[in-house]
Amino acid sequence: LSATLTLNPAFTIAPVSRRTFGSFVEHMGRCVYTGIYEPSHPTADADGFRADVLELTRELGVSLVRYPGGNFVSGYRWEDGVGPVADRPVRRDLAWHSLETNEVGIDEFMRWARKADVEIMYAVNLGTRGVQEALDVQEYLNHPDRTRLALMRQANGSAEPYGVTLFCLGNELDGPWQTGHKTAREYGRLAMETARALRSAEPWLELVACGSSSSSMPTFAAWEAEVLELTYDAVDYISAHAYYEPIDGDLGSFLASAVDMDHFINSVAATADSVGAKLKSPKQLKISFDEWNVWYQSAFQAKQETDWQVAPRVIEDCYNVVDAVVVGNLLISLLRHSDRVTAACQAQLVNVIAPIRTEPGGPAWRQTIFHPFALTSRLARGEVLRVETQAPSYPTARYGSVPVLDAVATHDAETGDVTVFVVNRHLTDGIDLAVSLAGFGPGLQVSESYTLADEDLYATNTLDDPDRVVPSPAKDADVTDGILRASLPPVSWTAIRLS
Ligand code: AHR
Repeated sequence: LSATLTLNPAFTIAPVSRRTFGSFVEHMGRCVYTGIYEPSHPTADADGFRADVLELTRELGVSLVRYPGGNFVSGYRWEDGVGPVADRPVRRDLAWHSLETNEVGIDEFMRWARKADVEIMYAVNLGTRGVQEALDVQEYLNHPDRTRLALMRQANGSAEPYGVTLFCLGNELDGPWQTGHKTAREYGRLAMETARALRSAEPWLELVACGSSSSSMPTFAAWEAEVLELTYDAVDYISAHAYYEPIDGDLGSFLASAVDMDHFINSVAATADSVGAKLKSPKQLKISFDEWNVWYQSAFQAKQETDWQVAPRVIEDCYNVVDAVVVGNLLISLLRHSDRVTAACQAQLVNVIAPIRTEPGGPAWRQTIFHPFALTSRLARGEVLRVETQAPSYPTARYGSVPVLDAVATHDAETGDVTVFVVNRHLTDGIDLAVSLAGFGPGLQVSESYTLADEDLYATNTLDDPDRVVPSPAKDADVTDGILRASLPPVSWTAIRLS
């Protein structure tokens, strides 16, 4: 097969938002306990954080971390996690039927976030709680001095406020599984009241209203419309969540998951814009894609045997080569929509459907999906460029005829660097790629290149073989006469930087 791309520095979409490279730490399974935090681990620092996980988090290029949930937050009392650890209660976590020891709470997490050099997206509980508790946690996090909760934070060791500016108004409240599940009207009213109250203290906050927990929810789009009619003026973002997996072994459709993500983003943007038009508002809402990943969710739903344990092993998906190519393609979709999606969080960071895995007391390693994330975060700089693509299509059961190739590019006007991110979704055929660089003038050459592919599509990185799947230099990547050429193996993700 062969395909061509045309790039031009004038085809800009929007600047790359660093917040696109967000992640998610939920009090779930072993994400926190024995994930980021394990005081008895040989690499643990004075605060009990695993230095190996911190190092991998930095290498992953994570910019933003959503915390503390997820479904967990909808039953969470943040006060349980502050003050002397010995006095903190053990509580039931109804979302995951686990026990929460509260050994890690806001102050510990903020210390970890500082070390990881990430911004926080803090989710407040609008499941079992309401406006007052949201105001309380805001006061604890952000109020500088003199008030009861600011003094409490100071007594707990943080003299300075944390200065969190990005808040999620609850989590997935459209889902019947959510503790405190609500109708769109109930949620919209509560989100509006909470947003107004939070903003009256700090008008500069950026607030995320909950969109649907997936585009397949029966209330999808109607939920967004009703919630936004009630909250439009008071929020900045509407959220989107999506998880992908192969259904009945259909890899062709699975590899086209980004087609679904594109459609989902376009639908949410259209719904938000239609509310804006109805309200005669000049404001345009942004999308926070604050949960996305590959998740073998049907396998999880089939078995749940971890009732009331502390930090049980749940949804520790072991990712293969195909999963990594899909993750790379989902990042292409997110970048392509940088004019609307300016925050995104891969769910989750460690152990729980995560790019980083750990063993308690043992090593930490990079899953296959780690690599496209880390490389995209490092290489996507400057402006996102729209890419004109000419490529053959292949038939899929779920999405009809789909291009075999999907791509996006970025251009850093300061350094002159151009990076092309591209996937070959074809199961058996390679693609000879030609990229026209005419608009950039002469001189661009390949400065680095990476392809993630493997003859064994099901190869994974494991405790015993942690670097079984790693990227290698892109095959035949070379620029001649203003044309970048490369060979893309079947089922592959590739990034090529030109300088
Ligand atoms: O990331 C796992 C779970 O998926 C989150 O807790 C929830 O918000 C979503 O349904």
